Amino acid sequence: MAIEQAAIEEIKFRNNIEDVISQYVTLKRAGSNLVGLCPFHSEKSPSFTVFSNEGNFYCFGCGAGGDVITFIRRAENLDYRSALEFLAKRVGITIAQNDNDKQEARRRERVLEMNKLAARFFHEKLMSPEGRSGYEYLTKSRGLSLSHIRHFGLGFAPNSFGALTDLLRSKGYADHEMASAFLCGVSQKTGRPYDYFRNRVIFPILGVSGDVVAFGGRVMDDSKPKYLNSSDTPAFKKSRNLFAMNFAKNYCAEQIILCEGYMDVIALHCAGFTNAVATLGTAITPEHARMLKRYTKKVIISYDSDGAGQNAADKAFKLLGEVGVETKILRMNGAKDPDEYIKKFGSESFRKLIEGSETEFEYKFGKILSKYDFGITSEKIKALDESEKLIAQVMSAAEREIYIHAAAPKLGITPDVMKRDVDRFISRRDKIAAAEASKKIMLESEGYGDRTNPDYIKNPKAAAAEEAILALVILHPEYLREISKNGNPLTAGEMFTSLGKKICSAILSILEDGEESCSELEGKLGEYLEVDEMARVTKMCIARRSLTNNTLEVLRECRKTLASAKLKSELDIQDIINLKRKKSDKESN
Ligand code: CTP
Ligand code: MN
Repeated sequence: MAIEQAAIEEIKFRNNIEDVISQYVTLKRAGSNLVGLCPFHSEKSPSFTVFSNEGNFYCFGCGAGGDVITFIRRAENLDYRSALEFLAKRVGITIAQNDNDKQEARRRERVLEMNKLAARFFHEKLMSPEGRSGYEYLTKSRGLSLSHIRHFGLGFAPNSFGALTDLLRSKGYADHEMASAFLCGVSQKTGRPYDYFRNRVIFPILGVSGDVVAFGGRVMDDSKPKYLNSSDTPAFKKSRNLFAMNFAKNYCAEQIILCEGYMDVIALHCAGFTNAVATLGTAITPEHARMLKRYTKKVIISYDSDGAGQNAADKAFKLLGEVGVETKILRMNGAKDPDEYIKKFGSESFRKLIEGSETEFEYKFGKILSKYDFGITSEKIKALDESEKLIAQVMSAAEREIYIHAAAPKLGITPDVMKRDVDRFISRRDKIAAAEASKKIMLESEGYGDRTNPDYIKNPKAAAAEEAILALVILHPEYLREISKNGNPLTAGEMFTSLGKKICSAILSILEDGEESCSELEGKLGEYLEVDEMARVTKMCIARRSLTNNTLEVLRECRKTLASAKLKSELDIQDIINLKRKKSDKESN
């Protein structure tokens, strides 16, 4: 069941695109538009633009674009319908569910019910004689008290292939449901289900609303794999859940401590740091970063002190930086992770680590200083070079100035000399970036490397005319009526590329029920098009809007151009590509 046009209008009207995008991107005003750093690709200067009056956005760097619904589809990784629901919920509108959604909601509910039963089962087992090994592991080897065990609802999966599956079956759950919840595996030989978690201590994972959404299970010795985790289920996505967020959410307005492991988080909560969370058997994702940004002002990365932990920290700095949340890192000496640190040195020492946590620059500069031996000239030069490149990456000139003054004395040079080098790095980098960007724009304008519309390159003239036609119709749906009156209605068949045909037939079927204003048409198109196709629509419209001659006459001209360009035989694609390569190579030399 499609969502009513009126509902889409209402949802778009109430979800002001500036407000929605501001929750993901720090926007600054630039004339009648807003600009910011694109959340969909990594960039240092803002090419992400929000056209408030038109109700859409476009990134001139990566080509992402569309209306507010398309934005949410991309940012939250949702399909069209779910994005509409997301936006509806945001402003307190409820959309009537269709049968598909009802089934999906039912599947989700059943998984949550099974998880609840399983969590209770695991916890009871831990407290029973059968769970003795698990209980001893958690209390004796890991130093947890009974109240900690209860607080986190920890459990024990007995060493049995059928204990949990038998229980769930007796409660009326089908094998395929248990499998979809990742509570059982299915034997390839017999087709019978068997318990997925066996002979492990169990960490239930709760969503922020308090439902048990997944489990992690750890062995009690050194066997492998150390952890088993639920994969994604109808009720759980590991890329957007954080362990202990259900507790931390009440204590994290100022700052969140981000760890790697379940045990680190538990140890921190037990020591009074109730704002600690961890990703779940996965590196931090952009979705995690956005979630953290919604909950807190500052993230303190508290990863393991080994190489893997430090690499993971680089990624966390990058992703958290992109969503614009202040990020610091704490450096632990004498312990491999926060759990061990607290056991060895106590919570007061850990508090001091938090107080002394470092910014990305301080942390990376510290690493450079400790990596090289300054007594050796060649090493000192390397340290200088790396430090200058590091400072060159900082956007704000004021900040760079501060870092230069902090770093230069430690490297044994004057701030002036260092500043000159840093400026040289910046201008060299900017030049390269500008050359690459113009090469890319040139190639793209001819359709080369176009993944969204691969037919474009086959006949750029026809494709360009087609884009003009589509944009004109989206901006002026009333033109369609005019040209139909003259007995020459627009058809999808007259388009040249298959994307053009797809867009055109979507427009025609939307407009079948009558003319709509432009923004409604765009909102509705999302139901038919993928996000990158929506971006194309926005791009065409932006190009058209910047022109003044968007008349019916131009539409007629473009149709003629399209028809005659289509008649001419298609050029050999490879020829064009070769030609472009030569041309761009020549220009960049
Ligand atoms: N992890 C995983 N699968 C593994 C190893 C690790 O999913 N085979 C995930 C778990 O979420 C784990 C996190 O990565 O919590 C960090 O790994 P590690 O530091 O090895 O585990 P800890 O939780 O610190 O466990 P412990 O202190 O008990 O060794
Ligand atoms: Mn650990």
